[in-house]
Amino acid sequence: MAADFHNPISRAIRPEDTADTLSRYRRSQERGREDYARMVEGFYDLITDFYEYGWGQSFHFAPGKGGASFEESLAAHQHFLGEALGLRPGMTVLDIGCGVGGPQRAIASRFGASITGLNISEYQVGKCSEYNRKAGMDHLCSVLHGDFMAIPAEAQTFDAAYHIEAFPHAPNKVAAYAEVFRVLRPGAVFAGFEWCMTPLYDGDNPEHRELKQRIEHGNALPEIASFTDVTDGLQAAGFEVIEVRDHALGDDVDRPWYRPLEGGALKLRSLPRTALGRKITTAALRVLEGARAVPEGSLKVQELLNVAADNLVAAGRLGIFTPMYFHKARKPG
Ligand SMILES: C[S@@+](CC[C@H](N)C(=O)[O-])C[C@H]1O[C@@H](n2cnc3c(N)ncnc32)[C@H](O)[C@@H]1O
Repeated sequence: MAADFHNPISRAIRPEDTADTLSRYRRSQERGREDYARMVEGFYDLITDFYEYGWGQSFHFAPGKGGASFEESLAAHQHFLGEALGLRPGMTVLDIGCGVGGPQRAIASRFGASITGLNISEYQVGKCSEYNRKAGMDHLCSVLHGDFMAIPAEAQTFDAAYHIEAFPHAPNKVAAYAEVFRVLRPGAVFAGFEWCMTPLYDGDNPEHRELKQRIEHGNALPEIASFTDVTDGLQAAGFEVIEVRDHALGDDVDRPWYRPLEGGALKLRSLPRTALGRKITTAALRVLEGARAVPEGSLKVQELLNVAADNLVAAGRLGIFTPMYFHKARKPG
């Protein structure tokens, strides 16, 4: 049981294939942009169940609001997006990089729109579709397996589109936004939350550069964008930019977005999120891997996740990084 809930490795891979999957993932990281698809698939194959254990079915950050629980903050962030898109029953919507579908189900049930998820991870597509069915949301929620760099849909199919922290994985922002533009009807709105280095990031500062690289490395990202990359990219793809804003700036000072990674109440389910929980998990895995109770490679995957989390917190504290650069744009017409 302990091995089960501390183990970062998803059931996407056979235990005996863990070490191989990890080395393939490492090799794809070295090739970055060229091998982004293999990098993302490998990453989520390795860690999806672990994320789900600690984070639930929504894999994103949210601004902390006084009095709101972690789950309530996530829900408020999702509902904000639905409002921003003006969703209503009868609309057809694309959720790009939908994870296992937590946001899709929450937004569809709140606004009554039909939402198609898109995901490059076959393992997550399977889970998302099963969860949609189990939640009785099949009538509004469906999911497609595919790459957002070549969306498997006809031109002008959707009335709206959004992504929550999926486009940080895009190897080319303009090309990714252009694909969204293609599948939207004229006049449709696209909105999302992007991971960005803020204007406080200084590329000449070695500490800043190292944090940026470590976040990229620990999260299967080709390169983290600047605010300007997002705005310019949307415009270059043909969109009219309506609004851009860093939602992290709306955080309560006592409840910044990275707080869940730092710690707080140490509950079993939040173990993988918190700093102390990560230490406990690493120690447990060292023993379990030595005793061959978890697959070889589990500890390395846990270390990868630790690097990701520790550097997100450090960059968040310095204010040089945000995981919630909100952008809203319209396809003219
Ligand atoms: C940080 S997770 C966010 C998931 C989901 N939006 C949520 O908030 O729960 C990023 C998601 O983007 C998906 N993704 C990354 N690159 C992709 C690509 N090229 N095409 C489609 N999906 C992709 C990943 O598989 C993952 O599900």
